[in-house]
Amino acid sequence: MTVPASRQGVPRIVARPDTRPMREEVLRGLESEPKTLPPKLFYDETGAHLFEQICELPEYYLTRAELEILRARSGEIAELAGPRVALLEYGSGAGVKIRLLLNALETPAAYVPIDISREQLGRVSRELHAEYPGVAIRPLNADYTLPLAVPPLPEGSRRVAFFPGSTIGNFHPMEAAIFLGRVRRAVGKGGALILGVDRRKNATTLNAAYDDSAGVTAAFNLNILARLNRDLHAHFDLRTFEHRAFFNSRASRVEMHLVSTVEQIVMVGGEPIHFDKGETIWTESSYKYDRARLEELIETAGFRLRELWTNRKRQFWVAYLEAV
Ligand code: TRP
Repeated sequence: MTVPASRQGVPRIVARPDTRPMREEVLRGLESEPKTLPPKLFYDETGAHLFEQICELPEYYLTRAELEILRARSGEIAELAGPRVALLEYGSGAGVKIRLLLNALETPAAYVPIDISREQLGRVSRELHAEYPGVAIRPLNADYTLPLAVPPLPEGSRRVAFFPGSTIGNFHPMEAAIFLGRVRRAVGKGGALILGVDRRKNATTLNAAYDDSAGVTAAFNLNILARLNRDLHAHFDLRTFEHRAFFNSRASRVEMHLVSTVEQIVMVGGEPIHFDKGETIWTESSYKYDRARLEELIETAGFRLRELWTNRKRQFWVAYLEAV
């Protein structure tokens, strides 16, 4: 039995319970060498909002470059994808880019936004439900780095995944291949993936993109500590930590750290965590790809490169990949 999407009411969020309690995950990271924190913790309500601001910064070229490509190529993308597509977006965020695809596609059947930020997911799903009454909106509140079950989709729809923002660069290359392999299985035979990837470029441009002059990225990075204070009753004094971001050329990644400016002990979830002066918490990496590395990744994951587009300044790639 099929009910028209327009009569199914406001989209209901399906939540995937997190199997790993936050406290254990945080402590495991802070007790390792070097200290780390899971990047998904960035995206509480404040963090999601700060990230939207990052995307508008003059130094942060990535979002504009990707939007330029999507605008220029949405017709070609629609042609390749064909009619009755079910779009699966990994990390749907503010829902800006998806509208370009939904507008271009021929009778899109469904949209599955997957995101860790529940408030944002609910808001965006309601908006899209109102704007695209013919599209079944199936929001999934989940950590997409863990295996997840794709909700039931309209019969006869073809699955196309969308993973923009160079979020693939936030995985270690080995984990990126494992993750894309999972996406490959989620879209199945005949499926496809539209992937946004930041290109390797000069250090000056990269350093500025991750350490802007207005300090928004610094605020975004430090917000993770504020969140631990709130949700884990941790005792971080934010005045004793500094944002540091730099391009590590050998590893081809921007590294983002929080540096302790003093020697100190911080209570986190009831456990004392010792910091040397100058010791860092490594909060995020953003790997930058050249063409050879990108092709290697695509092939390992079980995809075939169908199209590779760049913007006028050649800063960013959008790849159209087909499941092999
Ligand atoms: N996918 C984004 C990127 O790698 C994520 C990001 C941008 C980010 N700026 C950040 C993550 C600052 C942490 C801090 O570019």
